Amino acid sequence: MSEKSIGSLGKKPSISEVEMTELVLPNDANILGNLLGGRLMHWIDIAAAIAASRHCNKAVVTRAMESLDFKKPVHVGDIVILKAKLIWTGRTSMKIMVKVFSENLKTGQTMQTNEAFLTFVAVDDNAKPVPVPALLPDTVEEIFMFQKQEDSINDSRMNR
Ligand SMILES: CC(C)(COP(=O)(O)OP(=O)(O)OC[C@H]1O[C@@H](n2cnc3c(N)ncnc32)[C@H](O)[C@@H]1OP(=O)(O)O)[C@@H](O)C(=O)NCCC(=O)NCCS
Repeated sequence: MSEKSIGSLGKKPSISEVEMTELVLPNDANILGNLLGGRLMHWIDIAAAIAASRHCNKAVVTRAMESLDFKKPVHVGDIVILKAKLIWTGRTSMKIMVKVFSENLKTGQTMQTNEAFLTFVAVDDNAKPVPVPALLPDTVEEIFMFQKQEDSINDSRMNR
């Protein structure tokens, strides 16, 4: 089956996956020499928006940033690698997980520093929500993340 016909049934997360690299410059840092949280949020938002838009081939808007975990600081001069991937789709909404890694260029050491979850909505020219292709989770991890999201939505519906 061609990628185009698969797209009409649904799309695998790997089709829209994004890897984005940034260099932390002095203007991106706080007085401790660590990357500012707000700057990182901006990069996370962009990486997630590209993944969402790639999935649905439409304009998208950020509906929510559900969580952003700062596990470790990132320092000036480090490289930041952002990996954004769809983990779930609804009718018009898409949930994206962004994992952030820092890389020290002098030592080559890399570590995961952050993890974020965001929801984007696909919109038409009048900024009204429009349907998106279904997500077809493929790997064990993708199926696990998809099911976890389904379960949490079903739980919140039952608790209403
Ligand atoms: C995004 C927007 C167009 C949605 O419009 P709306 O009238 O709220 O639409 P709906 O209530 O039908 O919700 C649309 C989808 O968002 C989901 N949604 C609504 N609130 C949500 C929330 N707090 N968290 C996660 N998803 C949410 C709904 O479940 C629905 O998903 P589904 O179609 O997959 O079931 C509108 O809220 C908006 O314009 N928000 C501002 C966006 C913005 O300016 N972002 C920053 C710049 S990009």
